[in-house]
Amino acid sequence: MTCLPYTWKVRLLKIRWVNLLWRYWNNWRGVTVGDYKRLPEYIRMYAPGHSFVDIGCMWGVNGEYAFVAEQAGATTVKGVDVFGPTPEFEARKQATGSSVEFILGDAGQPAIQERIGPTDVVFCAGVLYHHPSPFDLLVALRQICRQTLILRTSTIPEISGLPNAAVYFPLLSDRDRQLWNLQSLGLKQQVGITTRFEPDQGYGNWFWGLTPSCLTALLETAGFRVDHRATEAFVQTCICTPVDTPFEHRLPDANEARRMAESISMAGIAQPA
Ligand SMILES: C[S@@+](CC[C@H](N)C(=O)[O-])C[C@H]1O[C@@H](n2cnc3c(N)ncnc32)[C@H](O)[C@@H]1O
Repeated sequence: MTCLPYTWKVRLLKIRWVNLLWRYWNNWRGVTVGDYKRLPEYIRMYAPGHSFVDIGCMWGVNGEYAFVAEQAGATTVKGVDVFGPTPEFEARKQATGSSVEFILGDAGQPAIQERIGPTDVVFCAGVLYHHPSPFDLLVALRQICRQTLILRTSTIPEISGLPNAAVYFPLLSDRDRQLWNLQSLGLKQQVGITTRFEPDQGYGNWFWGLTPSCLTALLETAGFRVDHRATEAFVQTCICTPVDTPFEHRLPDANEARRMAESISMAGIAQPA
């Protein structure tokens, strides 16, 4: 089934002046409208006196948000990325006598979570939609987050009548990918959208177009409460508090597993789907 009104909504929101109008209209009706430029403000609000980590700290920003947190009075500051550190990061660190620690690694890996350690404020901007398993990444963030998660991620507009929907970008046809090309709004390159899916680019690809409702559901099931959400047509910024324990499928030991299997068989509730 084609969904014409939705694709038209997306096309319209990609027109710069319509997008601007949409921002004014939402602002006018009391919706908190987000802005990339507000990220330092959030960091200065939550980081002072707390430990801080920036997940995905390098591309185009060279550790900027980690340095902002340090200058704002964060106690210990770490930056994590799957490449780097860049020469710009190292030069700034040396010039300012900064103690920001760079950790090379994938935030989704338990060994890296261990190196990061429990951290009061976890900041993660521009990473989630680059991950093939965003729920797993959110659970990883929940594992390390003690007080506040500041998450900014690219999203797609809500699909009315289809809450919690998402689009998986890899292997869409050239034509279908065009809908998600945001060059008209100033984005330069979106690997996997302006190009075909490029396996050798790994996390450089755009994997998921989550709707805001899907993002909220993922955050909550991973163990966060969303306290504040600033919305943009194609981006959400969320301030979250860890509430529940991180999601985990508890594996029973061999005896318990056997007992479970017996009771499932006795109840006759396991039907082939
Ligand atoms: C689009 S850039 C965002 C940079 C910056 N945070 C910002 O908001 O402007 C995404 C960054 O996250 C890094 N990254 C992607 N997946 C990651 C992962 N699983 N663990 C750590 N860093 C990751 C990328 O290498 C890149 O530096």
